[in-house]
Amino acid sequence: MNPDFDTIINRQGTWSSKWDKYREQDVLPMWVADMDFAAPDEVTQALRARLEHPIYGYTVLPDSLIGVIQARLCNRYGWSVEPSALELVPGVVPAINQVIRGVVSPGGAVVTAVPVYQPFLEAPEYMGRQLFTLEMTEATHWDFPVAEFRALAAARPEIELLLLCHPMNPVGRVMPAAILREILEICLAHNIVICSDEIHCELLLDGRVHTPMAAISELAADQTITLQAASKTFNLAGLGCAVVIAQNPELMAQFKAGGAGIMAHVNTLGYVATEAAWSECDAWHESLLLYLAANRDLLVQHVAEMPGVSVGLTEATFLAWLNVTELGLTDPQGFFESAGVGLSAGSQFKGDGYIRLNFGCPRRVLEAGLDRMRKACDTRMR
Ligand SMILES: Cc1ncc(COP(=O)(O)O)c(C=O)c1O
Repeated sequence: MNPDFDTIINRQGTWSSKWDKYREQDVLPMWVADMDFAAPDEVTQALRARLEHPIYGYTVLPDSLIGVIQARLCNRYGWSVEPSALELVPGVVPAINQVIRGVVSPGGAVVTAVPVYQPFLEAPEYMGRQLFTLEMTEATHWDFPVAEFRALAAARPEIELLLLCHPMNPVGRVMPAAILREILEICLAHNIVICSDEIHCELLLDGRVHTPMAAISELAADQTITLQAASKTFNLAGLGCAVVIAQNPELMAQFKAGGAGIMAHVNTLGYVATEAAWSECDAWHESLLLYLAANRDLLVQHVAEMPGVSVGLTEATFLAWLNVTELGLTDPQGFFESAGVGLSAGSQFKGDGYIRLNFGCPRRVLEAGLDRMRKACDTRMR
């Protein structure tokens, strides 16, 4: 049976972060990055089967899941990874913090390119490490600023870690392999470890193909800690399960040391759902990508008729990055919220003048949200 992404499923009363924010308000939530789609049936069936056993005690990482992860990396990217290079954790964000804690020395610094997912900006501070940012711009289609990175890396030997959002949230850009190679060359020259957050890597639209940073060469594998998860692709974020891939044993040891005593276990159901998602749901995944691409196209059409708003090409993710500078608003998020659409403020990603819209929802909901936005923009620009 084809997956049904059109049916509107009421998420009220399910403790959904996305929907509870606007409980009892007429605001369509299009902010936090989960989708309003049912997870694949295969995942729900696997969870149900596990719940038939009523004991939910401490759980070891199943060998079968390691096999599923190895097979997936090999089949999708031709990337061969030993079990010793894999570690499962309850989330990508805690893993980012753990990488910083384990890899970057107390006087060391981290660098990332902005606009970027907010925890990239917060984690270095939480861990007491300095943060440098590189600016990406819409004028250059959010290209990673390689020349600026080269200059900064040369000028700042204290930089020990590059946090890469690959593909990029919030700008929806996919980095070509040529740029990855240039980034790698700079990191090797200055001994900068790469932490590549690839949580959105299975959400490339229009047939684009993801290249994992670590898979471009042996040197890349040696220099990189990769973070992936089934959570964005299969809508499992509440189940808390992500995978860390570090083929360099020294980096894996540093990573583990960074979380010793503080990193929680992955919950049993997270393992179960991840294994089912990554082994049984390819057809669902293919249908999802088509649905998301069509939603993205619809959004682009609607934005073309929205005065004061523009959008570049979203190559990946279910997140669109809208330029609203022409509207001249001091609080774009509040403006659209008053119009009945809950978006993410660009400022939280270091992207003033922009807002992020989550289009991972049934098309009718998206249309309704875009319609509300257009009316508000019409009034504002009149
Ligand atoms: C780039 C990126 N990394 C990590 C996360 C969250 O990961 P987790 O829920 O596994 O902590 C998100 C969620 O939006 C994200 O966009």
